[in-house]
Amino acid sequence: MALLEIENLRTYLYTRWGVVRAVDGTNLRLERGETLGLVGESGCGKSMTLLSILRLLPWPAGRIVDGRILFDGEDLLQKSQKEMQAIRGKRIAMIPQDPYTSLNPVFTVGNQCMEPMQIHLGVQQKKELWNRAKELLKMVRIPEPEVRLQNYPHQMSGGMRQRVVGGIAICCSPELFLADEPTTALDLTIQGQYLHLLKELQGQCNAALLYVSHDLAVISQICDRVAVMYAGKIAETGTVSDIFERALHPYTEALITSIPPVDRDVERLPSLPGQPPKLHELPEGCYFAPRCPYVVEDCRKAFPPEVEVRQGHSVTCWRYS
Ligand SMILES: Nc1ncnc2c1ncn2[C@@H]1O[C@H](COP(=O)(O)OP(=O)(O)OP(=O)(O)O)[C@@H](O)[C@H]1O
Ligand SMILES: [Mg+2]
Repeated sequence: MALLEIENLRTYLYTRWGVVRAVDGTNLRLERGETLGLVGESGCGKSMTLLSILRLLPWPAGRIVDGRILFDGEDLLQKSQKEMQAIRGKRIAMIPQDPYTSLNPVFTVGNQCMEPMQIHLGVQQKKELWNRAKELLKMVRIPEPEVRLQNYPHQMSGGMRQRVVGGIAICCSPELFLADEPTTALDLTIQGQYLHLLKELQGQCNAALLYVSHDLAVISQICDRVAVMYAGKIAETGTVSDIFERALHPYTEALITSIPPVDRDVERLPSLPGQPPKLHELPEGCYFAPRCPYVVEDCRKAFPPEVEVRQGHSVTCWRYS
């Protein structure tokens, strides 16, 4: 049984401008210990997918209207709020985009490291909590942990805060990490170190990792499999080599040719013409058709089904149906 199996998830946002189909019939599968990268242009529904798993959608606009999210065989959409609270942080941990907003400015780093251990692991003794928090900071390579535990978040650098957030995420040995662009606030060197640390922590808990990023270079380095998202739907999924060496979907192709080559200077990168569709005014037929270089008449009639072309390599495009 897969650790996480998302089936036909539909998450809509009910806004003044209409219904935004942020996640529109998405299927994803994640095995224990595996790393799945979720990529796609801004606004395609990556964050909403992660927030749906945790059932932490923007309120009151966001609603899950269809589908199942099976976690270890149980549908998270059937859980009560109380049951979800016991799962969040303990079995599924989120590493958010911006560590500044996820740490509370009015509590010390120590307090914020100790709280989840108190709630989820039932550790009550002050001394024991303190020691565990110290170990945690050591694990994420924060020097002088005793001092740092007494700091407030603003007294730390961005890279340190991100590592603290990583430490808090792993303190209860979760089975699944959800990481939403966790390195955007970091410079390149620190980013490399952080990714290394994240993989190490993941290995220690044998956790699965769902990693959202725009950065295809990072995705190709740290993931086992990749899901490419376009306008709320999964366009293509496969192993890293399926996606980077044998891409099938025209959108994946376009994404990959827009990666800057490291070995030579280029005047201009090829960019994908056009804009992704507005999620409250989706076109008839395939959502990618208006931008697709291979578009034919049939593409504009109906949305293509998902087809497994090779084992584990699926694509949603009429060229393969
Ligand atoms: N609070 C909100 N209210 C209404 N619409 C929203 C809200 N948050 C996001 N959306 C819309 O939902 C859609 C999906 O957004 P989402 O944040 O999941 O995109 P994303 O793929 O994570 O993008 P990015 O790469 O920029 O983070 C977008 O069209 C966005 O405009
Ligand atoms: Mg996002």
